[in-house]
Amino acid sequence: MTSYSIIGSGNVGTALARHFARSGISVRIANTRGPESIASLAAELGDKVIPVALQDALTADVVILAVPFRAHAAVGGALQNWSGKVVVDAMNTYGISPEELKGQASTDVVAAAFRGAKVVKTLNQLPAKLLAQDPAVNGGRRVMFVSSNDRR
Ligand SMILES: NC(=O)c1ccc[n+]([C@@H]2O[C@H](COP(=O)([O-])OP(=O)(O)OC[C@H]3O[C@@H](n4cnc5c(N)ncnc54)[C@H](OP(=O)(O)O)[C@@H]3O)[C@@H](O)[C@H]2O)c1
Repeated sequence: MTSYSIIGSGNVGTALARHFARSGISVRIANTRGPESIASLAAELGDKVIPVALQDALTADVVILAVPFRAHAAVGGALQNWSGKVVVDAMNTYGISPEELKGQASTDVVAAAFRGAKVVKTLNQLPAKLLAQDPAVNGGRRVMFVSSNDRR
């Protein structure tokens, strides 16, 4: 069974954790401050949302990046080998200049820090408050664009 982790327990990480809990899919969640800082969120969302230390979160098959853009390098550097994993880039380059990206697409910059991983860009297009909401309410649907250099 595929395992999932969310890195970041802020606005976006919490919004995504709500969806995992709602869907009954287990997910580990980590931040810089440690699992104790996520305990109250986990208590609210139930046993599908499991606070862990960063290194534990990085053992998942699918690792979702919900951290500020500049933090991606620290997360990428926390694991030697990303081969076989899917890394979901839910970040936006808020406050990052095109010069800092050296003309590259931001997710290409991210991919360079996660060598061997299949990197997918998605989950970054909605404000966290909207992302957190159940799209099924009032018969609604949510559109989320997905992009990757890997076919599957
Ligand atoms: N907010 C939005 O509406 C929105 C919408 C779409 C996309 N985004 C993008 O999503 C990303 C997250 O935004 P946000 O609003 O959720 O930010 P946020 O509320 O500031 O949360 C950031 C989280 O990242 C964690 N973090 C930072 N550096 C880390 C590291 N090196 N290792 C592990 N965890 C680390 C922080 O840990 P601590 O809790 O320990 O400080 C925090 O939990 C950003 O790239 C943003 O551009 C945001």
